Amino acid sequence: MYLDNAATSYPKPEIVYEAVNHAMRQVGASPGRGGYRQSLEASRILFNAREEISALFSISDSSRIIFTHNATGALNLALHGSLFAGDHVITTSMEHNSLLRPLYALQKKGIDLTIVSSGSDGVVSVEDIRSALKPNTRMIAVAHVSNVCGAVQPVEEISKLSKSAGALFLLDAAQSAGHLPVSVDDLNIDFLAVPGHKGLLGPSGTGLLYVSPKISLMPVIQGGTGTNSTADEQPLVFPDGYEAGTHNLTGISGLQAGIAFIREVGLSVINEHEHSLLNRAELALKCIPGVVIYGPTNPLNRCSLLSFRAAGVDSALLAAELDHGFDIAVRAGLHCAPLAHQTLGTLPDGTLRISPGWFTTSEEIDFFSDAVVQCIFKIRKTL
Ligand code: ALA
Repeated sequence: MYLDNAATSYPKPEIVYEAVNHAMRQVGASPGRGGYRQSLEASRILFNAREEISALFSISDSSRIIFTHNATGALNLALHGSLFAGDHVITTSMEHNSLLRPLYALQKKGIDLTIVSSGSDGVVSVEDIRSALKPNTRMIAVAHVSNVCGAVQPVEEISKLSKSAGALFLLDAAQSAGHLPVSVDDLNIDFLAVPGHKGLLGPSGTGLLYVSPKISLMPVIQGGTGTNSTADEQPLVFPDGYEAGTHNLTGISGLQAGIAFIREVGLSVINEHEHSLLNRAELALKCIPGVVIYGPTNPLNRCSLLSFRAAGVDSALLAAELDHGFDIAVRAGLHCAPLAHQTLGTLPDGTLRISPGWFTTSEEIDFFSDAVVQCIFKIRKTL
């Protein structure tokens, strides 16, 4: 049983496998690099994928969508491509290393960084962000949903604050895309970083960055774009200038199918299904003596995943027991977000995280809950 959809969703909808197969067997060529029919078909796949993405995120100009290999690539491009020495950036203690590490690297190059601590439930206060504003605040960068505890941040208010402060608003939608509505229009998003392989149900090696038309972005990779070939400098043309090298055509083809599937089923239906599974798991886990669940107490302020620990039980050992004894895949330990663990009080051991997906059933959650009880009993007996 697979309960690690927050890392990578599995399985994928059948149409995703079919789209990957089609792109690999029937298309196979490089997009934008030839005038023959196969290459044109490859370009069409990219165009259609950008249109599908635009429809999901209310993006009015699909050429502002840059394909990357994951959300990390998208965040690196946004940060390294737009921030300069003297810029002040505000972020939160709930961020993943994919945002923190590029910011730390930029700090060494002269950007000024403020990390606002969230509450112990993982939710950041808009007033704390407001207090951190400086005259040179250039960007407010936040993860919509914490990958450690599922806390949903008050992004509407943060977006309004960014706008009124004249700062750029970067939203890391790694754990919200495909789970919660994200509208570039409504939220005035300047940068939207999205992985393709999680909630969007696409293949690994896919991701995207949306860049608002008001931003001039510096490319971080130079190379062939299929255009302006005689220019020595990387063309600052969207999207080609930022997608040097051959695209992951098969992956992007699958990503388009994943998003089409989500739009067909409906985000609210998916969200409701995942919520009901998480609520079911939470009810069962709360009955186990010594179990602590992290993140917001109100399930409505949590999305797509649940983190917990059992007193006296090592999370990594519990995960191993679940895997070996019951064939249940979960993530344990630290989830690449050290400050989030510090905020939640789960350093150094981390938590055990479950993240069901669209294909998870309530029977599986019941099986998981029974398995947890048995594993905890077994581990505690050996102590
Ligand atoms: N960032 C992914 C996770 O949280 C891999 O598991």
